[in-house]
This record gives sequence, structure tokens and C-alpha cells, in this order.
Amino acid sequence: MMGETIKVLVVDDEKVVRDGCNRVLTGKGYEVLTAENGREGLDLMGREAVDIILLDLKMPVMSGEEMLEKTRDLYPDVPVIIITGHGTIDTAVECMKKGAYDFITKPFQIEQFLITIKRAEDNRRLAQRAKQFEEENIRNLYDLSLEKSRLRTIINCMANGVMVTNRNLEVVLHNPAFMRLLEISEEIENPLPVSEIITNEALVTTLEEIQSGESSRDKSISQEIEAGKNTLRAISVPALGPDDGVVGTVTVLQDITPFKQLDEMKSDFVNMVAHELRSPLVSIRQQDSVLLEGLAGPLQEKHREFLGRGLAKIDQLLELINDLLDIAKIEAGKHVQYQVPIDIGRVIEDTIALMEPRAREEGVNLKYFCENLKPVQADPKSIQEIFNNLISNAINYSPGGGQVVVTVRGLGEYMEIRVEDTGVGIHPEELPKIFDKFYRVKHPKTRQVIGTGLGLAIVKGVVEAHNGTIDVESTPDKGTTFKILLPVIMSNE
Ligand SMILES: Nc1ncnc2c1ncn2[C@@H]1O[C@H](COP(=O)(O)OP(=O)(O)O)[C@@H](O)[C@H]1O
Ligand SMILES: [Mg+2]
Repeated sequence: MMGETIKVLVVDDEKVVRDGCNRVLTGKGYEVLTAENGREGLDLMGREAVDIILLDLKMPVMSGEEMLEKTRDLYPDVPVIIITGHGTIDTAVECMKKGAYDFITKPFQIEQFLITIKRAEDNRRLAQRAKQFEEENIRNLYDLSLEKSRLRTIINCMANGVMVTNRNLEVVLHNPAFMRLLEISEEIENPLPVSEIITNEALVTTLEEIQSGESSRDKSISQEIEAGKNTLRAISVPALGPDDGVVGTVTVLQDITPFKQLDEMKSDFVNMVAHELRSPLVSIRQQDSVLLEGLAGPLQEKHREFLGRGLAKIDQLLELINDLLDIAKIEAGKHVQYQVPIDIGRVIEDTIALMEPRAREEGVNLKYFCENLKPVQADPKSIQEIFNNLISNAINYSPGGGQVVVTVRGLGEYMEIRVEDTGVGIHPEELPKIFDKFYRVKHPKTRQVIGTGLGLAIVKGVVEAHNGTIDVESTPDKGTTFKILLPVIMSNE
């Protein structure tokens, strides 16, 4: 590596020339080394690195030409300037062909001499910098290829499938797990259009949307896809370039088949247990009722009390079991199979009539309004279930009485159902959770309310099965409003 001061080696058999060079160059800040002939010059270079050589041609022991040849081999980066008299100009030109950098003629013109040296110095610096860059470049390429090979190994060992597409939505990278999970047996020749590999249309559409920048770039999109006998979760994200533009997509595939199977087994199990529990409970309930009605003989007050309490507990259990069976059906997508045009007004009237006594008992003023009613395509039992759950919640969670207003009205293509109460309300933090299975809010004023936490999960399931939506607004201590939109049957359909 070249230091701050440039070292010039002057090889000449004439002492005058050596001394002259020494004086001029030292004055200009160069460090000067001298040698009397080629041999001496080479020996010196073996001990010390020099930056520029000034080389006379005619010298005893080893001539300039010979030394030039040797330095070209040994130190190809060091520029050699030939010192020549008029008589040896041809030889100097010859030397240039053999790799000398330049030549200067004796007697020297100081100005010219210094310019030549300076040029050689600059040239040497540039050559060295170029060499440095090249080395750095090679190192970077090596690091890059090392990184690439590491990444390859990681991706190839992963249990999750990985697929990367370019701007044209062609697959440019995939791993063995990807092939296995999608049950692709033939090797893919990259790059291949993604639609030729992925048969799931929803996933292809997602990737198209990500590539076109339609979907948010810092959000991953998760979807479930079926591939042969596997159920997979596909998580897709945009690949961003240095300028933050979308340069492709990355999809990770996760095998969730075992979880799906477990979930199904759990549902089947709950379903089976619920069914098995229901028949004996129904028969116990019947016999209990028979006893309670005095059909098996007169009862004393105590008997009546115990039987009555037992019956209430059995009803609770039956309610839980029915809820569990409903949830299982909703999850299996079999809940709302029977749909007919129904008159919601009738359903609401029936439900209110059924709820009225409970409301009165709790000191709740229950009212309903209907407006602009239109028929909806629905399962009457499910719709009744919606009203039952929402109205009984409104009553249950209004301790100390209050007002419950049910409004049903036609709004264009939708029927809007609102159930408003003036009860305890729901804290904003709890709102997103109340539709979860078994979730119940702990509230000191409603601790005595008995429930399973399944009602709203069923309501949401039923509404969504009818292509409707459900929303809730609530202010703690003021009240709660549930709002449902159900599509009506359009007359031109
Ligand atoms: N109208 C309402 N006012 C206040 N809280 C309510 C209301 N409806 C539901 N909730 C809250 O949401 C929870 C879940 O309701 P739900 O699924 O019907 O279960 P359950 O009534 O069996 O507890 C309830 O436990 C209650 O805390
Ligand atoms: Mg409830």
C-alpha cells in the first residue's frame, strides 16, 4: 500500500544523475532511493516497496532493459520511467512497448521531469485505487454468494413452504416444502407464471392485488386454502425494493391440517356429548313436570319447591346443550339450510309475547316498532333465535329495570333490526370480545345473571349465514344498542 510520501527509486550508473534526481525530488517531498545498476535496484526492491522507478538503460552488471523485464514480472504495478539520452531513444520506445510507463531524455528539463513523475504518481494512485475497488468488489460478491447460499439452505430446510414471485408474478424461488404441501411432483422451471402453479384462485387474486399495490403494503394477508388432502394457511406479503416499490410477493405456506382435524374432532365430541345428554334430560324434565302438575298424586309445598328448583336447573342445562348444538351446527356451516321468505313482523310479535312476562318481572318496559317491513329470505327458527338472544340479553343486563326498544324497519335493500336498552352497558375494551364463544363480561351488577356466553356467538353466526351484518354500540351505565342488517328479497329478483 502506498504511504503518504512517494518513494522513487533512481537506478543510474552516473552519480551526477542520481544526485541530481535526489536533490530535485527530495525538494518536492518525495523520498528517494538510489541504485547504480539493475541488480542493485532489484535487490533494493526486494527489501523495500517503491512506488516509482526511474531507470537508466545503459548500465554495467544489469542493464535497464533487463531490469525492466524483471520488474514487469515481479512488480507489475510499479510504473517505470526510462531515462534516456538522444542515442537511445529507439530503445526507450522499445521499452515502452515492453511496459515502461514513459521516458525522459537527458539532460533533464526540470519542469518536464517533474510533470512526468507527477503523472506516474497519479497513475500509480489510480491503478491502486482501481485494484482496491476490484478486491472489495470480489469480497462483496463472495459475501453475497455466501449469504445467498446460507439463505438457500435455511429456506430449503424449512417446514413451511416458501414462494417468491417477481414483478411479473412469475415464481422465481420456491422450496421443497412448498412442492410437498401443494403436492406438486414435477420440478418447476423458474420463472413460471404463478397462475400455472397455484390453482387456488383466491390466492392468485391476492397476489395480483399485492403486486398492483391495491392492498396495504405493511399488512400480511392470511387465507386458508385447500391443496389435495392438505389444508394450508397462506400468508402473503409484498416484497419491497430499495425505493419502497413493490417488486414482487412472498408467500409462506403453513400446514394446518392437523389443527383442522383436531378442531373437527372437538366439535364432533361436543356434539356427541350434547346429543347424548339431551335425550335423558328431556325425559327427566317430562317426568318432573308430570310430578309437579300433581298427576302422580298430590304434592306437599316442600315437594313442589324442590321439584320446581330442579326443573329450573334442568332448563338451564337444556339451554346450554341447545346452544352448544347450535354453535356446532354453525361451525359446520349446516345451521341455516332451510330458508324461506318470512315476515319478520310476525316473528317479532311472537318473540315479544314470549318475553313480555319476563320483562314485567324484571321491571323492564319492553316496546317494539315496525316500519316499512319487507320479507327476508331466512330460516324462521334462526331469526327467532336472534330476537330471543338479543331481547333476553337486553332484559338480563338491565338490572333494576329500564326500557328495551326493538325497532324493525326496511332500509332499501336491507331490513334493519335494532335492539336498544338502558342497561349497564359494555366497556369499550370488552366490546370486541362479546361475540366470542363463552365470553361473558364480569360486571358487579349482573353477576347473578345466568348464561353460557354462547348467545351472541350464535346470533353473529346466524346473521352472517344470512349474509347480514351485526354491530354494537354501547356506553357504560347508559345502555347498549345492537344493530343488524339483513338483505331483503328484492322484487325484481
Ligand atoms: N344488552 C347488553 N348489555 C350489556 N351487556 C351485554 C348485553 N348483551 C350482552 N352483553 C354482555 O355480553 C356477554 C355475552 O353475551 P351472550 O353471548 O349473550 O352470553 P350470556 O348472555 O350467556 O352471558 C354477556 O355476558 C354480557 O356481559
Ligand atoms: Mg345471552
